[in-house]
Amino acid sequence: MSINIKSAKEIELMRIAGRLAADVLDMIGEHVVPGVTTEELDRICHDYIVKEQDAIPAPLDYRGFPKSICTSINHQVCHGIPGRKKLKSGDIINIDITVIKNGYHGDTSKMFMVGSVSPHAKKLIEITQQAMYTGIQQVRPGARLGDIGHAIQKLAESRRYSVVREFCGHGIGKVFHEDPQILHYGKPDTGAELKPGMVFTIEPMINIGKRHVKVLADGWTAVTKDRSLSAQWEHTLAVTETGFEIFTLRDEETFE
Ligand code: MF3
Ligand code: CO
Ligand code: CO
Repeated sequence: MSINIKSAKEIELMRIAGRLAADVLDMIGEHVVPGVTTEELDRICHDYIVKEQDAIPAPLDYRGFPKSICTSINHQVCHGIPGRKKLKSGDIINIDITVIKNGYHGDTSKMFMVGSVSPHAKKLIEITQQAMYTGIQQVRPGARLGDIGHAIQKLAESRRYSVVREFCGHGIGKVFHEDPQILHYGKPDTGAELKPGMVFTIEPMINIGKRHVKVLADGWTAVTKDRSLSAQWEHTLAVTETGFEIFTLRDEETFE
């Protein structure tokens, strides 16, 4: 495994790409309402990224993915393909945005609640966001990848949720998915050591029920096998000399 260290110049470009990806999530929020289709959300994001941001939606045609964003509803874990299905009150949905600007990727996702959502769904969303943050808080030079995974797993399992194993965070830069893999479970003080200039995502997927997932016949959409609700949040961040810098932070986030 070779983990690429980004130069100050590259870090500056990734800051820009990250900001754009975060802006798309801010923009789309008001459109996530009962009755809208995920295809409509895809179209709005696509046009915003291409026309307003002069950027490229990275998922489109990535390994055959047919749309510009991923939309994963309720028991869908990740990589949901936007389609004609209408959102309804009570749904929870992850929208995952990746943009390419000046050749560099910014990758981020958040959960949205449609209309009024059950308390147990809200709790899952909240704890999953906390799990991402606790993973992020492990990041500093000298820490190891296993510290990130362990912190996330410990928090999720203390609430009797489960952590999805089949998908992980990833190094990111000119390439969408590069080394290292960032597992969302693991043992403290194991795995590669973090160094300033590494850039990667942390994007835990947490289920109310069992951790097992399967991929639907469309070849992309991952769902929980037991059909229990699943949530995911994602940020792109860099290891700095003293800790971390989140490139995809939104104004609404109080963290840091
Ligand atoms: N954005 C996803 C991630 O966080 C990857 C989506 S790949 C796609 O890594 F092809 F499904 F878009
Ligand atoms: Co990612
Ligand atoms: Co993503």
